[in-house]
Amino acid sequence: MPLFLFNFVACILSFCNITEDPKLLYLPINHSNMNHKRSWAEPYKIKMVELLKMTNLKDRIKAIKEAGFNTFLLKSEDVYIDLLTDSGTNAMSDQQWSAFMVGDEAYAGSKSFYHMEKAVQKYYGYKHMIPTHQGRGAENILSKILIKPGDIIPGNMYFTTTRLHQELSGGTFADIIIDEAHDPLSNHPFKGNVDFQKLEDLIKKYGSDKIPYISIATNVNMAGGQPISMANLRELRTFTRIHGIRIIHDMTRVAENAYFIQQREAEFHSRSIAEIVKEICSYTDGATMSAKKDALVNIGGFIATNEWDVYEEARNLVVVYEGLHTYGGLAGRDMEAIAVGIRESLDDNHQHARVGQVEYLGNKMLEFGIPIVLPVGGHGIFVDAKAFLPHLTQDQFPAQALAAEVYIDSGVRTMERGVVSAGRKADGTNYYPKLELVRFTIPRRVYTQAHMDVIAESVANVYDRRKKIRGMKMVYEPKYLRFFQARFTKL
Ligand code: F0G
Repeated sequence: MPLFLFNFVACILSFCNITEDPKLLYLPINHSNMNHKRSWAEPYKIKMVELLKMTNLKDRIKAIKEAGFNTFLLKSEDVYIDLLTDSGTNAMSDQQWSAFMVGDEAYAGSKSFYHMEKAVQKYYGYKHMIPTHQGRGAENILSKILIKPGDIIPGNMYFTTTRLHQELSGGTFADIIIDEAHDPLSNHPFKGNVDFQKLEDLIKKYGSDKIPYISIATNVNMAGGQPISMANLRELRTFTRIHGIRIIHDMTRVAENAYFIQQREAEFHSRSIAEIVKEICSYTDGATMSAKKDALVNIGGFIATNEWDVYEEARNLVVVYEGLHTYGGLAGRDMEAIAVGIRESLDDNHQHARVGQVEYLGNKMLEFGIPIVLPVGGHGIFVDAKAFLPHLTQDQFPAQALAAEVYIDSGVRTMERGVVSAGRKADGTNYYPKLELVRFTIPRRVYTQAHMDVIAESVANVYDRRKKIRGMKMVYEPKYLRFFQARFTKL
């Protein structure tokens, strides 16, 4: 009997309740000629929505002028799709919201602290944990403890707040990331890797005594959300043991890094994200975390360490800058939500959908011919503003200009990650980073695929009129982390 006839008869039988065994109802589908793609989809459904204000061109032009052409200075109510950052913009799950209700707001020894500590120990494997209000709170304290004036801190590319805290403690950051990380077109699968030659040169020049630790970020933000490989990390662990140097892990996006290791390093294809994250952490001596990213909350962070002395010192200092060592500036409910968020972030389906959505946007932009950093990273799409606006010099702030144009076009808010973000050196001269990027950062579990379409189409529109886009002049420059509050006018 042909398959369709069998299924038809089976269907009739089932309606008449003649057969109860579901296995007998349908013949198995023959998959041999059905090689369709299997898409990822979000492993959640939406229980509550936040309504967005739709913006119009006239209001957007007014708003960006008032904001000094700096997207950080826009009011969020003037923004349609907010891709400024993936930091603190996550949608929490029903489990996290319900954990909020059991937050223990005791000043000292809160139950919620112990829940968070347990999650950090269980999932990341670090021995000691001290909460902080966010990542930079942890960076401040750890830099104060570990860095002496004159020290050198090698790292796989800088991050703005991390480097500033190193400098404020008297240290100097030294970039030891592989050259490919500075090339937007290099398709290297692990652009976050350390270049051992650069590291050895530093040790030869300064001696390992001057290097209190190596700062290793997982899924390097400023390189475009690019991962470090497990192989590179293992080699670094062996190397640092020989030289007696610590590794401090900026684990802000460790789960996204683990996803790439799972996809790209053969040894890890069948290992879970949770297992990979634990192994990554095991090669490091301590960590700073901005829980506002991977840990799926809106505020929070921590210091983690395996060293008792560092833990003791951090417990002393946290009281000065953040709060008692069992809350570190957080409410009990925040610590509960972090404990749940850490677990949820390590779910394989979550990470697949998370990075899948970013890749979807990246592929759309590539179809439109937009120059983006390759390969597509973990937390956003980084548009290459130098290639987008080749008629502008870096002193004319191409990424700043492009971010403003995208906002004007569609109300999509993005962020400059180029010469403005890079800031000035201690001697007052500008850093000129090779990468001049506009970051389209995707908040976790917040926007849909249709939003991604709208974003890509807007960038394509701006691309069509790119030759008419003028550069910027900085008319106000704050002393620290200037990108947050600088103001510009159009040239
Ligand atoms: N490290 C990395 C890699 C980060 O991306 C951030 C924050 C921090 C540390 C500091 O953490 O914000 O909690 O104090 N990045 C945000 C961003 C601001 O938009 O990329 P924080």
